[in-house]
Amino acid sequence: MSVFNVELKKVVDDSYEIEVGHELEQKLIDDIKAGLVGNIKKFAVVTDSNVKPLYADKIFGMLKDNGYKCDLIVFPAGETSKTRETKEFIEDTMLEKGYRRDCCIIAVGGGVVTDIAGFVAGTYGRGVPFINYATTLLAAADASVGGKTAVDTPLATNLIGLFNQPEKVYIDISTWRTLPQRQLSSGLAETIKHGCIADRKFFDYISENMDRIFAVDDEVCEHIAHENCKVKYQVVMKDELESGLREILNLGHTVGRAIETVSGYKLLHGEAVSIGLVAEVKLAEKLGYCTAEDVKLVAEILEKAKLPVAIPDYIDREALVKKLYTDKKVRDGKLRFVLQKGIGDIMEFDGGQYALPVSEDTAREIIMSI
Ligand SMILES: NC(=O)c1ccc[n+]([C@@H]2O[C@H](COP(=O)([O-])OP(=O)(O)OC[C@H]3O[C@@H](n4cnc5c(N)ncnc54)[C@H](O)[C@@H]3O)[C@@H](O)[C@H]2O)c1
Repeated sequence: MSVFNVELKKVVDDSYEIEVGHELEQKLIDDIKAGLVGNIKKFAVVTDSNVKPLYADKIFGMLKDNGYKCDLIVFPAGETSKTRETKEFIEDTMLEKGYRRDCCIIAVGGGVVTDIAGFVAGTYGRGVPFINYATTLLAAADASVGGKTAVDTPLATNLIGLFNQPEKVYIDISTWRTLPQRQLSSGLAETIKHGCIADRKFFDYISENMDRIFAVDDEVCEHIAHENCKVKYQVVMKDELESGLREILNLGHTVGRAIETVSGYKLLHGEAVSIGLVAEVKLAEKLGYCTAEDVKLVAEILEKAKLPVAIPDYIDREALVKKLYTDKKVRDGKLRFVLQKGIGDIMEFDGGQYALPVSEDTAREIIMSI
């Protein structure tokens, strides 16, 4: 018998830039020319059917005009496309078109596009680089930054995926002008979540500037894009792989993700998170970490953002309680919740834990009450 000790200690530097600005297409091309992804000359531009004519066609055209080999890979817009089948479609298209390891994927779109393209990039040829060009507030606030990539399954959202960091993220605020109001509101849910977990001043700023956000005012939108990145990065830089602190970014998502799936994706991600934020601040109130005034303020800001704050009647609440168990924070079969400590702070529990086990009966009581 022989035993080999395979020593593979690694020092990895996955640092990257997030650039916030307006009409960043030319900046993307300039960065590629300046060596953002080394000598790579072949690019798969992945996008959805809505974003293609709005922004991806332009980026594709500019890459071609600059002498790069590229293909545009388009899938139908919407959460129901975030599947293993769409991943396979992108991979098969790339294989058919001769993509090998010397290529880069550019995701142009919202969170569905950046999540799926980042996942493809992580497994294609055992890993190729990718760049995110985010075109929704939700992608800017959350999905395109932080390196979580995934697809949904019929059981629940985001269960299959990997941590994979992009080479660079572009947050093009001018793209928010073409976003339907419902999508802008959806992105506001994650933005408000950041105020809830980390920054009372930011929470108040969002509330006071809601009209200017809906008007896509440059100054206000740049500020919220910047603050979103700041909150998210203060967490991700300390706990990239979600072994502790990063769980706080899950506020509102234990209930939110379950509602999103049980609604059959009738509710947008941010709309489901909005209801989840209300449920979870009520839970925090019940457990003594928030006041009735905090609950009122959270519901008010979400309503101001034109988001739902109650579980729609068509949702089977018992099915929702069962669906809570698909949450990735569940440990030893027990539900665990991240809990606000007032507004702008989060509870830390014994042993550096940020999620507290909560009984099914307590969770059910909250779900039945909203
Ligand atoms: N990876 C993460 O850390 C993370 C975090 C939060 C959310 N997510 C995921 O993000 C997804 C939701 O993101 P989303 O709301 O951006 O979804 P999305 O990508 O489906 O975009 C929403 C809709 O807006 C359209 N669209 C995109 N940009 C547009 C623009 N500029 N103008 C007009 N229409 C535009 C899209 O075609 C789509 O119909 C969910 O799948 C969620 O699970 C991931």
